[in-house]
Amino acid sequence: MPSPTHTSDISGAGDMSVALIGPDEDRRKAVAEALAGPPPEPGSRNKPRPAGNAVFIREYSDYPPQPDDLTRILEQDYDVILLDLDSDPECALNVVKSISTQSAATVMVYSAKSDVDLVVRSMRAGAREFLNLPVTTGNMTEALSRVSVQRPALRLARKSGARKLLVFLGSKGGCGVTTIAANFAVSLAQESSQSTLLIDLGVPIGDTAINLGMVPKYSTLNALEDPSRLDGSFLASLLAKHSSGLSVLAAPNEFPIIPATNAAVDRLLSVARQNFDYVVVDAGSRVDLKGSAVFDDSAIIYLVTQVGISELRNANRMISQLFGARPNPIQIVLNRYTTRSLGFDEDHITKALTIPPQWRIPDDYAAAHKAQNTATAIALEDSSISRAIRMMARAAGGLSEDTEKKKLFGLFG
Ligand SMILES: Nc1ncnc2c1ncn2[C@@H]1O[C@H](COP(=O)(O)OP(=O)(O)OP(=O)(O)O)[C@@H](O)[C@H]1O
Ligand SMILES: [Mg+2]
Repeated sequence: MPSPTHTSDISGAGDMSVALIGPDEDRRKAVAEALAGPPPEPGSRNKPRPAGNAVFIREYSDYPPQPDDLTRILEQDYDVILLDLDSDPECALNVVKSISTQSAATVMVYSAKSDVDLVVRSMRAGAREFLNLPVTTGNMTEALSRVSVQRPALRLARKSGARKLLVFLGSKGGCGVTTIAANFAVSLAQESSQSTLLIDLGVPIGDTAINLGMVPKYSTLNALEDPSRLDGSFLASLLAKHSSGLSVLAAPNEFPIIPATNAAVDRLLSVARQNFDYVVVDAGSRVDLKGSAVFDDSAIIYLVTQVGISELRNANRMISQLFGARPNPIQIVLNRYTTRSLGFDEDHITKALTIPPQWRIPDDYAAAHKAQNTATAIALEDSSISRAIRMMARAAGGLSEDTEKKKLFGLFG
């Protein structure tokens, strides 16, 4: 993986981030200079560029040699990726294609040749701008302005913290992780109208697809068996689409022969997060995934438990032993909750868990039973469960929750 040759923050604010990938140093430097704009006049500090954009530039002195190297660049979430076409046009066009399928970054290319065929091929591969060298600051400013005008929604989504990883883990088998994760994902897809993916990492046989009334063709087995093959387009070919708009990567129907490595799971999550605004994971009770990206510090973890002696005891151990050192506290979800749950009151529950629970999903046998019998997601019908889950989803998506909260508090007096 080539390391960046340098990083320059042209005018400090970082309004637009640009990755500049160019093996030829002279051309790359010329483009970097055009991006940076003229040097400040004597006596004037932080002189704005002509378009008023601050541009943060990171230079890469090589095309990414391996898919993982490209992944690492994409993880930086650049607004624009600018590539040299001339050093190796075939390799450059492949990188353009991979970026366009795997990420929301805008791809621009530069070349010293006026080759119409190359222009057409780069546009077909997904490049949005073709810059013919030599390029001036004026040309560059115009090109960047077009890019920033075309992508306000994306920039807004990034600023509001989209591309979240939301993980559901149970304190014990049968706690309701799948019911909550699957219906939370449906609600999030509907409420946010943003791209949402549900991944079922439950083993040996996960059942999110059944909960949603789906019969997918492919599963996590296909995604995890060869991590080096997995990219945005391969992942897309494995997904099933739910009527809510949610994309689903189901669990295998057969017992996995070789358990997936953490590296394979990490790759899946990395590709998933580059391609979806929200990635929801049903992790079942898989504490073995602790060292993987599933429990990355940036993930929002929902620990699902019921109010019972062994469930609360397990939850307590998980909170202290697995998640004690997290920068973001985990969120506790009490499932099948009733105000009279086994004689435990709120104080008992908080003491047993050491942190107060955030969410309560009512015990609603009729709604759960109906969903199973009709193979329809609980989230698509009105019930006490669907209302509580929708409230969680709206909070996760940063959407207003006033009305839902009022209704739900009514339920618990
Ligand atoms: N709030 C609820 N009210 C009523 N029934 C529920 C509720 N939540 C879950 N159930 C029911 O409990 C059972 C177990 O739920 P679910 O499969 O979601 O649990 P799980 O934690 O995913 O289990 P596993 O460990 O097998 O993966 C299902 O029959 C489901 O319909
Ligand atoms: Mg389950």
